Amino acid sequence: APNAIATIKLNNKEYVTDDYTNVTPKILSYLNRNLHLKKDNPLSLVRQRIVNYFYSSFTHRENHPSRTKSDCYYINRKTLLRAHMTAHQSELLRSGLDNFLMIGDVYRRDEIDSTHFPVFHQIDAVRSQRKEQLFQDFPDLELFEPTFDPQNPHIFTNSIKDPNKQSCHTLEATKLMEAQLKNHLIGLVQTLFGDNIKHRWVEAYFPFTHPSWELEIFYENNWLEVLGCGIVRNEILANAGPNNTIAYAFGLGLERIAMALYKIPDIRLMWSKDSGFLSQFEDKALNERITYKPVSSYPQCVNDISFWLPPNLTIDTFTSNDFYDLVRDVGGDIIEQVKLKDKFVHPKSKKHSLCYSIIYRHLERTLKQAEVNEVHKEIEKAAVKAFNVIIR
Ligand code: PHE
Repeated sequence: APNAIATIKLNNKEYVTDDYTNVTPKILSYLNRNLHLKKDNPLSLVRQRIVNYFYSSFTHRENHPSRTKSDCYYINRKTLLRAHMTAHQSELLRSGLDNFLMIGDVYRRDEIDSTHFPVFHQIDAVRSQRKEQLFQDFPDLELFEPTFDPQNPHIFTNSIKDPNKQSCHTLEATKLMEAQLKNHLIGLVQTLFGDNIKHRWVEAYFPFTHPSWELEIFYENNWLEVLGCGIVRNEILANAGPNNTIAYAFGLGLERIAMALYKIPDIRLMWSKDSGFLSQFEDKALNERITYKPVSSYPQCVNDISFWLPPNLTIDTFTSNDFYDLVRDVGGDIIEQVKLKDKFVHPKSKKHSLCYSIIYRHLERTLKQAEVNEVHKEIEKAAVKAFNVIIR
């Protein structure tokens, strides 16, 4: 065996090796890595999801990264890069607009992964209505309180605190706005993803709306959050705009939607200047179905190794796993795969021969054939030494 260590130390304990010892230093190097506890590992993600599932609670975080230093990029005490487009809502309301979209780049300090990047893009909207517009035609009287008088409807009232609405709003005005808002946004995701898209509303918290929701769509077996929305807090409207209106607002991230729609696996690709990426979206009709095709993953290098087995071994008694471990020991992490390619018994000499394909690929860069050849030669040498084989 390729193992010549007399003792093995594991977690401060020494183990004497014997004729059964077959762990290799490479395998031992994986001990105590605790991938499942590493925040940046998919295994840790899956772990957390499973744990969350079993512990699931439906409480909501009562915070929002609108200004906190830990979530935002500050130029100095007075100036920060906007963390969301809603930051412009008041100024546009004050300028006299009542229905508008705001589109731009936003900056957030956040996790780093394939769906998070410190810069992303949002579309925000405000739609405000006066009493006459809102109560023009209302679909469902059952939503309303028994005191509701269709001849004399109101947006405003002065009620006690109610989790379903702001205390200054009537339930009917809130419900009508909610119905319009939700229809409007369901229409949007159906337009983008097709009429059969499954969606759900999740209650949410935003400092500038109440009540608030998030819209999730079921996409590729996952619930994907696509936007936040709600009824604009009346203080904001009253301070900035006409004080006799009620408004809804929403904000959605473009990256999320683009990634889902075009199956773009990594948010960093949005920043690509590579024509291989950009040409896939160039000159396309807006509603054309586009599925992103990866332009470059680092290329593989395949080298074969064939050897004659020594007289005491046959193609059936040779343990491929021993060979695989040797390949891993010598080649390390650039080994992607080892495949048994061919078994052969010479008709005259009756010698046994095996051929394996070794597939090399570096995860972070392109391997040069010359460096692969060097590693491959080392593997051949090690195989000769360990198994007494003769390279063909
Ligand atoms: N600004 C919120 C965000 O970035 C989204 C939002 C916009 C929610 C408007 C409600 C209303 O998360």
